Amino acid sequence: MKTPPLASLRLQPLRRRAMAKSIVIALDGPAASGKGTLAQLIADHYGFAYLDTGSLYRGVAYLLLREGEDPKDRLAAERAARDFSLDKIAGADIRSREVGAAASVVAAQPAVRDALLDFQRGFANRPPGEKKGAVLDGRDIGTVVCPHASVKFFVIASPEIRARRRFLELKDAKPGLKEADVLADLMERDARDAGRTDAPMLQAKDAELLDTTHLTIEAAFAAARRVIDGVLRRCED
Ligand code: DC
Repeated sequence: MKTPPLASLRLQPLRRRAMAKSIVIALDGPAASGKGTLAQLIADHYGFAYLDTGSLYRGVAYLLLREGEDPKDRLAAERAARDFSLDKIAGADIRSREVGAAASVVAAQPAVRDALLDFQRGFANRPPGEKKGAVLDGRDIGTVVCPHASVKFFVIASPEIRARRRFLELKDAKPGLKEADVLADLMERDARDAGRTDAPMLQAKDAELLDTTHLTIEAAFAAARRVIDGVLRRCED
């Protein structure tokens, strides 16, 4: 399948970006747009560390639900976020619809976002395993967490395609699941993630828009690589 032409990056932001401590690649966009799969492929290809920042919000939500707490309870959510560490959710099923919906609720709370910010920035600036770069995906990586990222993508796809992808992912574990319900969940989550006041889901001004609606994952990955290779070449000059 053909890859779409992507606008070339402007030089001005590139100079500023080149000063980042490590090479940071930011991918933002709505749920099931393909950004997670792309982020993992990019990290493997370039030998960079990968952080799925949604797993932090999902982790906080999972722990709250497990303790019988209400994700809307601001004090409980802040406490869970301040005490959070990835080992607390090792092996836990954080991919369910319930956890996804609760994650979007806790993610709208500024105190929760603040509690998770340092960890994400630390990961980006000093990637684990002494890797020379980091790939982070989420909703606010290019705008808030890493505004000076070396490369930014905003990954989108039509709601119907996203619902189909998410349905195929979940259907074996959830017999009886309806694609229409998955679509409704996604729409509700998108509205909450884009409509919140603190760090809403937003395309950064200097982010490349990558629409994966009609792209195979290979074609989307090839398009992303063309942009990243161009930036890396210019950083080396
Ligand atoms: O990417 P995901 O579906 O796993 O994310 C779960 C929720 O976490 C999503 O509804 C919004 C929130 N999130 C966020 O607000 N900021 C991020 N950087 C990542 C995720």
